Amino acid sequence: MNAPLLRARALTKRFGGLTAVADLDLEVHAGEILGVIGPNGAGKSTTFNMIAGATAPTAGSIDFDGAPIAGRPPHEIAARGIMRTFQHNQPFAGLSLAENVMVGMHTRFSAPLWKLIAGSRAAQRAERDARARAEALLDFVGLAEQRADDVGTLSFGQGRLLEIARGLAGEPRLMLFDEPAAGLTPAECERVAAIIRDIAARGIAVLLIEHDMRFLMALAERVAVLNFGRKIAEGAPAAVRADPAVLAAYLGSPAGDAHA
Ligand SMILES: Nc1ncnc2c1ncn2[C@@H]1O[C@H](COP(=O)(O)OP(=O)(O)OP(=O)(O)O)[C@@H](O)[C@H]1O
Ligand SMILES: [Mg+2]
Repeated sequence: MNAPLLRARALTKRFGGLTAVADLDLEVHAGEILGVIGPNGAGKSTTFNMIAGATAPTAGSIDFDGAPIAGRPPHEIAARGIMRTFQHNQPFAGLSLAENVMVGMHTRFSAPLWKLIAGSRAAQRAERDARARAEALLDFVGLAEQRADDVGTLSFGQGRLLEIARGLAGEPRLMLFDEPAAGLTPAECERVAAIIRDIAARGIAVLLIEHDMRFLMALAERVAVLNFGRKIAEGAPAAVRADPAVLAAYLGSPAGDAHA
């Protein structure tokens, strides 16, 4: 098999006396969907925060495409090709959908270049191209008709779709999804699942945190299970779901009781 696109080794995050993530190894390949599950407080979002650069690991390494990225700032990590969606939608208020997606593209433009070409024909062309790409991404997630609308008019589920389009605007090679199905209707869940499948089919690596087991099991080829910051199981969804340690973690009781 090819080298993994993302490789975390012995990743650890402590907040004071609390170890949120402990000695975690993770690997994701291009085009693969890796699920990450675990009870509340297991360290899933903290793991994403470290990969995306929102928080620096206390210890351990993260390599992306062979380069060390642990502790690098979020804008540098985004520019390298790691984008995320959040557990809660975070659109830019007062802008249209298309403009929100265009903001997501700026991770790929260097500021000095913009200064150089500002106001020029080249800048106008760049903006036209950006708008066309934004509209293509909105079409991809099913929001093409609302492209000129203010983000304030979106339903919760549409806001989630916009978040995905904004993430894709950064041309990621790895997408991090933190509970993308949370709060969605069943029809919206289906839509998001199909989009995530399409994203992986384009060769983008996907890390997917999800509490909705059915949603996750239908998407992920491999699942890693965290509990109190440690990886307690990893493998095919069906095997992981039947793992006694996983059952015990979810039920908060010895595995024997789970079967009783
Ligand atoms: N900035 C922080 N400061 C202190 N403790 C934190 C911080 N962020 C997270 N924690 C703690 O670290 C642990 C892991 O939190 P994290 O948010 O990573 O869990 P999670 O698996 O994403 O949970 P959930 O399923 O509820 O989203 C929790 O005990 C949490 O309270
Ligand atoms: Mg979380």
